[in-house]
Amino acid sequence: MNQMNVNIGGKADRSYEIYIGEEILDRVGMILARDGRAQRYVIVTDTHIDALHGARVQAALEKLDLRVDRITVPPGEEAKGIETVLTVTERLTALGADRQTVLIALGGGVVGDLTGFAASIYLRGIPVIQLPTTLLAQVDSSIGGKTGVDTAAGKNLLGTFNQPKGVFIDIAFLKTLPDEQIRSGLAEVIKYGIIESPELLDDLEGAVAKGNLRETAFLERIIAAACRIKKGIVELDERDRGLRRILNFGHTVGHAVEAASGYALSHGESVAIGMVAAARLSERLHGLPAGDAARISAIIRSVGLPDRIPAEMDLEDIFSRLSVDKKKEGGMIHFVMIRKLGTPFVNGGIPEGILRDALKGLKP
Ligand code: GLY
Repeated sequence: MNQMNVNIGGKADRSYEIYIGEEILDRVGMILARDGRAQRYVIVTDTHIDALHGARVQAALEKLDLRVDRITVPPGEEAKGIETVLTVTERLTALGADRQTVLIALGGGVVGDLTGFAASIYLRGIPVIQLPTTLLAQVDSSIGGKTGVDTAAGKNLLGTFNQPKGVFIDIAFLKTLPDEQIRSGLAEVIKYGIIESPELLDDLEGAVAKGNLRETAFLERIIAAACRIKKGIVELDERDRGLRRILNFGHTVGHAVEAASGYALSHGESVAIGMVAAARLSERLHGLPAGDAARISAIIRSVGLPDRIPAEMDLEDIFSRLSVDKKKEGGMIHFVMIRKLGTPFVNGGIPEGILRDALKGLKP
């Protein structure tokens, strides 16, 4: 089992461990029982994950004499609203959960974000542990303490920074994960390779060549590498004031494409397209060596993600969504660019004509 510490600084009790391994549920129970953080836990999960894993996770903890309850919420992004958080808090009250109770977020990004948020407001804050079940949550959202829910006006408009007390990443959960969701997580892994660790790209290319993308040893390696990169960035910039923005490589265009598709494109597919746009702009404006943008496109295609904007999508719609972002950010679109693989920086503005050209070039 891989283990690493996230040292957020300040008070020591804000640091936490990330554990990564296969079939680690028994150890999760032992670690929680040993640490004696609480006798009482409430698992928050969605009905889909609950059917697959809920009872098994609960039983693994109860074996260690921990008291465990389960709360389920509906699956999917539609559930990521304040109403669901209120339902969770009402259920917690009904269960008699107190300030010594720890929440366990069992699920993907939606469950992790809304459980983290509920934990940060229930009784003015109770601890949360992340038990992510998707590759995307394992390499990204379960680490770093961002919580949030969507409102009618946009995604994650309500939220907090609330670091978990621990993150337990069991690769066994990925066995039941559909290929499409593995690809969504791989988009973020490709991002880490581009912004921080080109060796990750070599590893991905090797796994594609061998047809090994779902192999446990490979997954454990890339998850550990991703977690190490993310935790290193969060340790330096927990509150997203500067450095943490590099984690948004590909996300500026990605978010606009995702919204313009009416969320028909997944987050991973949208970020994949956004990373190709950012790489091409980096080549044109910032001297990214010739061939690197093409390599990024090839890796994206090779794992089954799109590197082109779908033909039926309206470029003007994507532009108008980028302009909304521009207003929110005070007149500038913060674009993450790269000078070379592993060397990212935040560019404060891209001339509109160049941006238009880049997007046009991504139409098939
Ligand atoms: N997913 C980007 C961040 O955690 O900052």
